[in-house]
Amino acid sequence: MKNYLIHDEWKIIEEGFHPQYNKVSESIFSLGNGRKGGRGNFEEKYSGETLQGNYIAGVYYPDKTRVGWWKNGYPEYFAKVLNAANWIGINITVDGEELDLNNMIIESFQRVLNMKEGTLSRCFVASFKDGRKIKITSLRFLSIVSPEIGAIRYSIQPTNFSGKIKITPFVDFDVENEDSNYDEKFWVGEYLENLGNEGYLTAHTKKTKFLVCSGMKYNVMVDGKEHAVHIENESRDKYIESTFEIDTQKGQEVTLYKYGVNTSSEYFNKSRLAYESKELLNEAFETGFDQLLADHIAAWAEKWETSDIIIKGDVAAQQGIRFNIFQLNQTYTGEDERLNIGPKGFTGEKYGGSTYWDTEAYCFPFYMATAPQKVARNLLVYRHKHLGKAIENAQKLGFKNGAALYPMVTINGEECHNEWEITFEEIHRNGAIAYAIYDYVRYTGDKDYLAQYGFEVLLGMSRFWSQRVNWSEHKNKYVLLGVTGPNEYENNVNNNFHTSNMAVWTLKYTLESIDFLKEKHSETYKSLCQKTGFDEEKETAKWNDIVAKMYFAWDDERQIFLQQDGFLDKDLTPASEINPAERPISQHWSWDRILRSPYIKQADVLQSLFWFEDRYDNDFLTRHFDFYEPLTVHESSLSSCVHTVLAAKIDKPEKAYEMYLRTARLDLDDYNNDTCDGLHITSMGGTWMAVVMGFGGMRVRNNKLCLNPILPSGWSGFSFKLYFRGVHLLVKVTNKNVEIDNLSNMPIEVEIFGKDVTLKDQISLTI
Ligand code: BGC
Repeated sequence: MKNYLIHDEWKIIEEGFHPQYNKVSESIFSLGNGRKGGRGNFEEKYSGETLQGNYIAGVYYPDKTRVGWWKNGYPEYFAKVLNAANWIGINITVDGEELDLNNMIIESFQRVLNMKEGTLSRCFVASFKDGRKIKITSLRFLSIVSPEIGAIRYSIQPTNFSGKIKITPFVDFDVENEDSNYDEKFWVGEYLENLGNEGYLTAHTKKTKFLVCSGMKYNVMVDGKEHAVHIENESRDKYIESTFEIDTQKGQEVTLYKYGVNTSSEYFNKSRLAYESKELLNEAFETGFDQLLADHIAAWAEKWETSDIIIKGDVAAQQGIRFNIFQLNQTYTGEDERLNIGPKGFTGEKYGGSTYWDTEAYCFPFYMATAPQKVARNLLVYRHKHLGKAIENAQKLGFKNGAALYPMVTINGEECHNEWEITFEEIHRNGAIAYAIYDYVRYTGDKDYLAQYGFEVLLGMSRFWSQRVNWSEHKNKYVLLGVTGPNEYENNVNNNFHTSNMAVWTLKYTLESIDFLKEKHSETYKSLCQKTGFDEEKETAKWNDIVAKMYFAWDDERQIFLQQDGFLDKDLTPASEINPAERPISQHWSWDRILRSPYIKQADVLQSLFWFEDRYDNDFLTRHFDFYEPLTVHESSLSSCVHTVLAAKIDKPEKAYEMYLRTARLDLDDYNNDTCDGLHITSMGGTWMAVVMGFGGMRVRNNKLCLNPILPSGWSGFSFKLYFRGVHLLVKVTNKNVEIDNLSNMPIEVEIFGKDVTLKDQISLTI
C-alpha cells in the first residue's frame, strides 16, 4: 500500500517526483474520452521506468496465444487493444543536452489530475549537470466534446540562464505492446506527411486492417506573443518530428501549443481518413486551446452534475469516490454500441482491453443511474450485436439449436480467453448478461426492450442452459457439472450454486418474458419465433422441468446453500488464520494448494444472494455471509463491493465500511501492488454500487425506487444523484436526516425506510 498522493477533494496531486512509483502514477494520471485514452506519460523524453501507452477504442489485434497444449475449442488468439501512436511527444534539448528527468536534479515537481475539469498538468524545475535550471509547466486534455482531438500547452522557461533551446514535437507510431506475445509489432505504416508545423501518420494494423491516422499541429508563443520559428522536418517509417530552436533570455517563457488528432476507420472512410483528420485538426487549431479547453470543462461540468457523489467529513473518501467516477466517465461514454469497458480501460494493457462479465455485473448500474438511458441500453445492444457469435461459440462446443454462450473475454464477440477453465467453464457470465437485461427493464421500465432485442438474447441463453444441464438418475434432479463459478480458486466443480442459480433464473425470466411478449407484442413475438425457429411448447416444457427439478447443494445443519458439491469436505479454517506473509495466496501458494483450499477469491454464493436478496430474509442472508465471508480472500478487486452492499443490508455497518475501504482507494493507494499495470476500471463501478446500493440502500422493488440509507461513522454526510424513470433525484444523507430533492418536473413515488412517499416536482422532502 502506498500513500504518496496528496488528499484533495477534486484533484489527485503528486508533490515531488516519485520515480520508483512512476508506472503507478502513469496509470493514475491517465486521461480518456471514451474514444481514446492514454497513460499519464511525460511529453518529453523519460529514460526511467515507464510504460508509454496510448489506446484507441475498438482498435485491436488478435495476438497469437502462447498455449502449448492445444485442445479442441481453444480460442485461436487473445485480442489486444493496441498501443497506438504517441502523439503527446515534445522533446527539449538545451545546448545539446536533453531534458530527461531521469538524468537531472529535480528541484521541484508537481503532477495534478484535475478531475473536475478533466485535465492533467505538471509543473517542475530541474537542473542540468552544469547548474542551468529549466522550468516546465504543462497542461493537457483529451477533448470530450471532439473525441478525436487532444491538446497540450507546454511552457519552457530558462530560470537562471539565457541560451538556445531546441524543441521537437513529434508523433511516434513505431510503438509496440508491452504484452505482445512474440515481441511482434502490430502496425504497418502507410501514409506520411510532415510539413512545417503540421504532420500526419497513417498506419494499419496487421491482420485486422484497422486504419488509424494520428497527426499534430502546433504554434509557438514567446512571453505571450505569437512567435515565428524556422522549422526543420524529419521523417522516417512511422515517425515524424519537427524541430525549431529559440534563443531565449533568462526568465523568458516559450509556450508550445500542440494539438493532436487520432482518427480510425471505425468512424471514417479509409480513403478519406487522412483528409478528415486534417480537417478536424485544423478546425481545432483555429478554435484555439483556450476555447477547446473551456468547452471541455463545460462538458465535464455536465457529467459531474449527474454523476457526482459528495462525501462530507472524509477527504480521502471523497477523493477516492470521485476518482472512480472520473475514470468510469473517461472510459465509456455510451454513444457507440460497438464499444464496451475493458477491466483496465485506456490505462494499461492487461486484460487486452476486452470485455468481461465485469461490465454487466459491476459497471452497468453506474451508467444506468448516472447517464441518459441510451448509455446503459447501448451496453446491452453490444451483446445483442454479438448474439450470432455467441451462437457460433456454443456450436463450437457442441451445442445446437441456437444455444448461445457468450464469451468470457471478447472484443468482437468471439471468445479469446485462453485458459480452458475460464473459456469453457466460467459460464455464469451468461447469467450476468441476462441479469443486466432484467435490471435495465426493472430500473428504466423500458419493457419494450425485450421485444426489440432482449428476448432473442434470453432465448439463446436459455437454450444453452437447457442443453448444458443433465439429468442425474442418481440424484433424480438436473445437475450442472464441470463448471467454474466466480470463485476462480476452484475449477471444474459440480453444481456451483451461483451458476445453477443463474441458469434456473434465466429460464424463469425468459418464460416470463414470453408471457409479456405474447400479451403486448404478439406480432413481434410471432416473427421472433419464426426467425429463431422457436418451438415454444416443446422447448419451454423442458425449461419448466429444469426449473422445477434443479439440484442445489444444501447443508441442513447450517441451513446454507453450498458453493458446490463437496465444499464441506474442505478444511474450513478461516482466511484470518493464513500467515499474513503468505497473502495474497495467489502470489505465494501453488495453484494446486489454492484449488484444494477452502479459500474463495471473490463473492460466489454471495454474488447470487446480492442479486436475488429479495427472495431471502436477513437471517438467511446473514447465515450465508457469516459462513462464506471468513473464507473469502478478496483477491479480485471485484469482491469487496458485493460484500459491502450485503453487509450494509444485513446490518453490519462496520463490516460494510471495512469492505468499502478496500475498494474505494484501491488504485490511489495501490492497495494490491498492481496499479502499475493500469487501473481497476471495472471494480470502480463496484465502488459506486458500494456507496449508492450499500450505504444509500438503493434498490428497485415493484417498479419503485427504494432507499434505506445508513451513514458510515467516519462521514458526516454524503449525497448522490440518480436518474430514475425520467426523474432526476438528489439524495442527501446526514447524521440527522435524509433529504431527497426531485430535480425534475414530474412527481414520483419512492419508498424510504419502508414508507411510500410522493415527491412532487421540484420538491424536497426531509425525513
Ligand atoms: C476475476 C474475474 C474478472 C477478471 C477481469 C479476474 O481476476 O476473477 O471475475 O472477470 O478478473 O476483471
